[in-house]
Amino acid sequence: MIKVVAICGSLRKASTNRGLIRSAIQLCNDGSIGGMQIEYVDISPLPFLNTDLERDGTFPPPVEAFRRKVRGADSFLFASPEYNYSLTGPLKNAIDWASRAPNVWADKPAAIVSSGGGFGGGRSQYHLRQVGVYLDLHFINKPELFVKEFEPPQKFDSEGNLIDPETTDRLRNVLLSLQAFTYRLQSKS
Ligand code: FNR
Repeated sequence: MIKVVAICGSLRKASTNRGLIRSAIQLCNDGSIGGMQIEYVDISPLPFLNTDLERDGTFPPPVEAFRRKVRGADSFLFASPEYNYSLTGPLKNAIDWASRAPNVWADKPAAIVSSGGGFGGGRSQYHLRQVGVYLDLHFINKPELFVKEFEPPQKFDSEGNLIDPETTDRLRNVLLSLQAFTYRLQSKS
């Protein structure tokens, strides 16, 4: 069983990116994808990164809890909008906390999906990939999923739930690719 930690870059209650994560969890729970378990980990309790909060290699309790989840994961699913053409502040903050020595992202596989405006959040995906270079976080390259939230047909309901079957199917393909890549990396370690 592959353990995936899912992280959302939007803290909004009706976040469409959070909706993508809910849908991914559903695909694992209803048997559409076997051998994969996805746990959503909320990054909103994390304080702003400030190295003054670190004491002799320990971190504030919410950071310790987050780092434990990251350390225990086999792979990651990031779902995030773009804010001003880049990663959202909350997502970068979470990534930075878990990068503090020892970097707990290292050598793990990840997939990125996004929902947003004209480019479906695509520009933030490429910035996140760049951050992953330094962290030794290995992203699957394909398939890519950029959900243009306002382009017909309607993709989400008013609560941010994914309601479009084609997008759900594309999300399933992303998860299958992440699963195959995770097995491949694990077989080599
Ligand atoms: C945005 N949004 C946005 N959209 C986009 O396509 N490109 C962008 O650069 C930005 N920039 C931006 C900055 C800030 C501060 C906010 C609050 C919003 C719109 C945003 O991507 C869109 O509302 C998504 O739906 C938000 O994702 P969630 O919250 O639905 O997951």
